[in-house]
Amino acid sequence: MSRASAVTVVEVGPRDGLQNEPTPVPVDDRVRLVEDLAAAGLRRIEVGSFVSPKWVPQMAGTDAVLARVPARAGLVRSVLVPNEVGLQAALAAGADEVAVFAAASETFSRTNTNGSIADVLARFQPVADAARAAGVPVRGYVSCALGCPYEGAVPVSAVVDVAERLVALGVREVSLGDTIGVGTPDGAKAMTAAVIGAIGVERVAVHFHDTYGQALANVLACLDLGVRVIDSAVAGLGGCPYAIGASGNLATEDLVYMLEGLGLDTGVDLDAVIRAGERISQVLGRPTGSKTARARTSR
Ligand code: HMG
Ligand code: MG
Repeated sequence: MSRASAVTVVEVGPRDGLQNEPTPVPVDDRVRLVEDLAAAGLRRIEVGSFVSPKWVPQMAGTDAVLARVPARAGLVRSVLVPNEVGLQAALAAGADEVAVFAAASETFSRTNTNGSIADVLARFQPVADAARAAGVPVRGYVSCALGCPYEGAVPVSAVVDVAERLVALGVREVSLGDTIGVGTPDGAKAMTAAVIGAIGVERVAVHFHDTYGQALANVLACLDLGVRVIDSAVAGLGGCPYAIGASGNLATEDLVYMLEGLGLDTGVDLDAVIRAGERISQVLGRPTGSKTARARTSR
């Protein structure tokens, strides 16, 4: 089993985590979280989204978060955008990267973005073109890559198709999202291998939710395929408001602990990310979702 020695962790907690909180988290706390994560060594952070506030009120104020987390060398402040309105807001706010999101399931696509998969991809062409013209890189998600809350099993061919279409739009990296966390390692590996076969491993990231406790096992399976970009959320925050049953993301602390144990460098200070997780968990008034954090802090 050969593994190159560095992995990039993409921290999605301030977006994929806080978008799902029943009560919106104040901008001050969102800023503090992003700064804590940056100080912990996370170099790519999804700080929020410019989606419709009627759909996801929790992410209103992402412009204020960006304004208070200034651009700096060595930090990519990424935001999720669903359309041109969101892109223009992201550019005006100075985002370093934007992420578009399509689904491999028609029902989820309609539920999450009010359009078919084809509609949503068509919406993204002008988004990708304008981002490129502005010199801002575009990431793309494929949601429901291992299952859909409405349709159940999702064919690998559907995931490959959406990933290829995202790359054709000009997306630099495709993050394969197990939105509801139903995947297990063999299926995760087979799906990811098929996408790698279509678009190349250097374009592939993986994004696991931990509903059934499978996220780390799935990551390990994908590391063996050469994947080196992995999404996670501090304290295991997360879920998608339009994915019934979706629980937290893979916790960044648990991911970093495993990668360190495998001898893979992340540049992330585990103790500092645990502190970031403790702080946001206090704000949310509940215990961290990271086993690593619980183990370390109870010593
Ligand atoms: P729509 O209602 O069809 O949009 O929603 P519309 O174009 O008809 O506009 C309706 C209203 O929203 C209008 O305002 C627009 O101006 C406004 P009104 O005239 O009624 O006052 N609007 C906006 N406002 C601010 N920013 C915008 C924007 N766009 C329109 N960007 C839309 C379509 C796509 C906008 C909506 O469905 C939406 O915002 N969806 C986002 C849902 C979302 O954020 N879901 C969570 C993220 S996905 C996820 O978590 C999965 C992922 O993590 C991967 C994984 O886990 O697998 C990525
Ligand atoms: Mg997600």
